[in-house]
Amino acid sequence: MARHDLTILTGASRGMGLAMARQLCVQGAVLLCISRNRSEALQSWADDQGTQLTQWTADLADAAPVAEQLRGWLQAQDPATLGSARLINNAGVIGHLGPLDTAAAQDIAMALRIDLEAPVQLAAAFLATTGAWGLPRRILNISSGLGRRAMAGTALYCAAKAGMDHVSRCVALDEARKPHGARIVSLAPGVIDTGMQTELREGDPQEFPDRDNFQRLKDDAALTSPEQAARQVLAYLARPDFGEPVIADVREA
Ligand SMILES: NC(=O)c1ccc[n+]([C@@H]2O[C@H](COP(=O)([O-])OP(=O)(O)OC[C@H]3O[C@@H](n4cnc5c(N)ncnc54)[C@H](OP(=O)(O)O)[C@@H]3O)[C@@H](O)[C@H]2O)c1
Repeated sequence: MARHDLTILTGASRGMGLAMARQLCVQGAVLLCISRNRSEALQSWADDQGTQLTQWTADLADAAPVAEQLRGWLQAQDPATLGSARLINNAGVIGHLGPLDTAAAQDIAMALRIDLEAPVQLAAAFLATTGAWGLPRRILNISSGLGRRAMAGTALYCAAKAGMDHVSRCVALDEARKPHGARIVSLAPGVIDTGMQTELREGDPQEFPDRDNFQRLKDDAALTSPEQAARQVLAYLARPDFGEPVIADVREA
């Protein structure tokens, strides 16, 4: 019997996540997508491809209950029918654009919860529930070059992505001590033509001095399409050496 990949993907309603979801829709695949919105077009596409797609509408600003729901969903799966299990933490928000002292308390909490707490909560649920499955398991955290390079006006986003990178390093060490530990990568996906880039171009240059650089990338057609970025990221996920190194960038792959 053919064994299929199970993938959990956050932020699949638009942008690179939607492109990844479409590319993950192959015959027999099991795909759980989590965003605040569901995509009817994705559902039709999955049905046409013979993919077992489940879409949860959930707000990852409050990730603990979603992680709990994920534990239950994973416990209901039959690992004997699966070839591998993967978690792709892709959902993200650029959040407040401006110096930290101009961020409201709620902006601070939201950015850190969605961009850092949620991936960690879901990774913990995934690792705990699939640990005894005896299958290859991979976690792909979608990070950013800004997790490795500071930029004015984006302290929360930069901090969350840097945190994601460092959590990934630590988890890799923990998993390496287990007989069938999961592999994990924190991957910068390049600069992609999505709503997140639109938000950066709409920033106030007084508060966000790099705004014009993002405008220039758009004007120079230097942005990767969501489909191309999704192909590169999923090719990275499939690499035999996935996990080595833990911190990676598709532009250097
Ligand atoms: N675009 C770039 O140039 C770029 C560069 C480096 C890294 N990245 C990273 O790549 C990933 C994808 O970015 P993108 O450009 O595709 O972004 P995007 O077009 O803005 O899409 C963001 C996705 O995250 C989901 N999301 C946002 N807030 C959420 C919440 N509270 N709860 C649940 N889901 C939520 C959105 O779904 P809903 O709105 O339906 O909830 C959407 O599906 C992000 O992690 C981002 O940081 C992007």
